[in-house]
Amino acid sequence: MKRTLTMIVLVVVMVWTAACGNSGGGTESSGGAGGSAEGSGGKVGISMPTKSSERWVSDGANMQKEFESLGYEVDLQYAEDVVENQVSQIENMITKGVDVLVVAPIDGQALTDVLDKAALSEIPVIAYDRLIKQSEHVDYYATFDNYKVGVLQASYMEDKLGLKEGKGPFNIELFAGSPDDNNTYFFYDGAMSVLQPYIDKGQLVVQSGQTDVEQVATLRWDGATAQARMDNLISAYYSSEKVDAVLSPYDGISIGIISSLKGVGYGSESKPMPIITGQDAELASIKSIMAGEQTMTVFKDTRELAKKAVAMADSLLKGEEAEVNDTETYDNGVKVVPAYLLEPVSVDEDNYKEVLVEAGYYSEDQLK
Ligand code: GAL
Repeated sequence: MKRTLTMIVLVVVMVWTAACGNSGGGTESSGGAGGSAEGSGGKVGISMPTKSSERWVSDGANMQKEFESLGYEVDLQYAEDVVENQVSQIENMITKGVDVLVVAPIDGQALTDVLDKAALSEIPVIAYDRLIKQSEHVDYYATFDNYKVGVLQASYMEDKLGLKEGKGPFNIELFAGSPDDNNTYFFYDGAMSVLQPYIDKGQLVVQSGQTDVEQVATLRWDGATAQARMDNLISAYYSSEKVDAVLSPYDGISIGIISSLKGVGYGSESKPMPIITGQDAELASIKSIMAGEQTMTVFKDTRELAKKAVAMADSLLKGEEAEVNDTETYDNGVKVVPAYLLEPVSVDEDNYKEVLVEAGYYSEDQLK
């Protein structure tokens, strides 16, 4: 009799504990099987900028896979580079009762109000790859060492042109990313930390004179915009000069610049392609590197970034602290956001097989 009573009490306690465990965020529970945390499940809202760039498609898919394998339900949305879409998609996620938000902003400054709403519903927020600015409601930031990305691009040029050995003068033109993306300034500052001394010494010459980040920025990282700017630069400054190097911050921009250069005959024996940098190791750019057009790219393993962001979200939902390795660099205007920075890797025709194919990022077939 005593035993039966104890059993009943135990069962009641277990049911009660389970019910409390799920009520925490007042959210829908997951459809996923077998969660990571006790009484887990939980719903994650992932807001990505655009599907027009291959990298964000992989980022979203990788995170979705990781979250689902931990038992979370995922609401993954792409905003097609329209800021208002992103805001309303996030608002929707908040209304649907997600437990955590992972956001790669289109415009880093445009999410202050919507994150205030998330905070009212006690939904924590992780900034993904790009910093979310002007909000205190950003818990963590998962990204790469963005300054180093720029350093890698510029050091590659320094090496190939023999600048350390005093060679030059060479003509260079500079491109930067979208002015509303915090990363743009890190990439550009990193690159200019290497290039500026050579510009000052006259070993590098910017024929257009356009060196301020505002002058060389490319709204929304758009390849066609970059192509149009390169067309203008060539016709205004390169009728009798030749371009030797182009700093490009991102593969989509590099492809635009290459189209422009090809249009006026670069890529031939008498007019070789300049050195052209890039970032993201997108398929089109790896193929372009293999074809001897783009010179290098910076590989950022989106599988690793996805894992980091997922681990951060999982820790937040378990009430634990997430692992970070930088608590100084990323001041968003309101607070310094604790971050985990992954390492970017320089890739060119000599190491793309080892870095991308042998590590399983791309298959041989994809590169055909
Ligand atoms: C940046 C990102 C780069 C590149 C670019 C354009 O924020 O860090 O890797 O993807 O956006 O999408």
